[in-house]
Amino acid sequence: PYEWYRTMRETQPVYHDEEHGVWHLFRYADVLRGLSDYAVFSSDPRSAMEWEPEGPEPILESILRMDPPRHRQLRSLATQAFTPRVVAQLAPRIEAITNDLLDKIPMTGELDVVRDLAYPLPVTVIAELLGIPSEMRADFKRWSDALVSDEGEEARDTLFAEIKSMYAYFTQVLEERRQHPQKDLISDLLVAEVDGQHLSDVELLGFCALLLVAGNETTTNLIANSILSFDRNPEVVERLRNDPALIPGAIEEALRYISPVKAMARFTKAEAVLGDQRIPEKQVVIAWMASANRDENQFPDADRFDIQREPNRHLAFGHGIHFCLGAPLARLEAKIALTAMLKRFPGQWRVPDVPLQPIKSEIVFGVKNLPMNWG
Ligand code: HEM
Repeated sequence: PYEWYRTMRETQPVYHDEEHGVWHLFRYADVLRGLSDYAVFSSDPRSAMEWEPEGPEPILESILRMDPPRHRQLRSLATQAFTPRVVAQLAPRIEAITNDLLDKIPMTGELDVVRDLAYPLPVTVIAELLGIPSEMRADFKRWSDALVSDEGEEARDTLFAEIKSMYAYFTQVLEERRQHPQKDLISDLLVAEVDGQHLSDVELLGFCALLLVAGNETTTNLIANSILSFDRNPEVVERLRNDPALIPGAIEEALRYISPVKAMARFTKAEAVLGDQRIPEKQVVIAWMASANRDENQFPDADRFDIQREPNRHLAFGHGIHFCLGAPLARLEAKIALTAMLKRFPGQWRVPDVPLQPIKSEIVFGVKNLPMNWG
């Protein structure tokens, strides 16, 4: 897709797809504006236009799809749980989970990065944060896949069925926590008050669903996409091994270079003027972060993977009021995972020349399998 992004940035940076009635933004400056100017570019389709979902869409009731003032009120309830300082306290636990996972890999010189580490790590961490038993991991995975996947019309019934079973599960968890509060995020959200009122049941379910999906697939893909970036730039692995202080910069560059979230949607509440284009009100707008992150006007030599790039103001976590709440956690998980891999897997890392299955999705970029060998 990177060739397509480049062509679009150069030829039609604000592109109106008349057939589908959708606008697309490809340049850094326009994507930044679309993501952050919430007065014009709303996150809530229902506030900008006449629109109703075709089926259950839990994320619609979450902060991801809210505008101020409700967005600010609800987001502030969860920020405490995700500050860098609070998240840093999770490091020993994340390291333990990582080591347990890596201990299971036979030292024969190969693993599947997604199956063996990148997938189970974030789902275990988020389950613990929410106070959900780890036996539920397989269900979690199916639910979060269902929420981001785009497998077409025929998969729709299965998708709605998965969402319903997720609702049923979280409804039960909320009921249990109401009776017996625990020390976890769900219990905190249950007792939280905004202007003297508790969150509604739909809002609580939306929050659970958002934390579940936002924290899973994306972090899995960040770890896998980092390995893919290193595979195209093999000298990086040795540099990181010799100087682990470079790891955070390498993660930022992987976020820019192969962004796990390719694009986010916005909905115009008023006319927006971008360069010489006018986008009328009540339009769907797709802001392509993956394209913005390769924009030469922002990143010199944008197609080069440079782990010491400075500055590196990529938009992989969004920008403005919706900036990813889980960014400190995602960064920490990726750092711990890569650090442990660098310690355990010596020599050159190679991704063998086998077909990788891309995840079918308009929103996320990642692969379902990622074999890697070392030594
Ligand atoms: C929002 C990306 C990991 C929780 C966002 C947004 C992006 C993003 C682009 C902004 C969406 C918008 O502007 O409409 C990512 C990436 C991740 C990641 C690339 C991993 C590499 C996580 C994790 C969590 C999380 C681990 C939590 C456990 C959230 C939440 C929001 C959000 C709650 C909504 C914030 C709001 O609307 O105010 N994320 N995310 N994310 N993310 Fe993440």
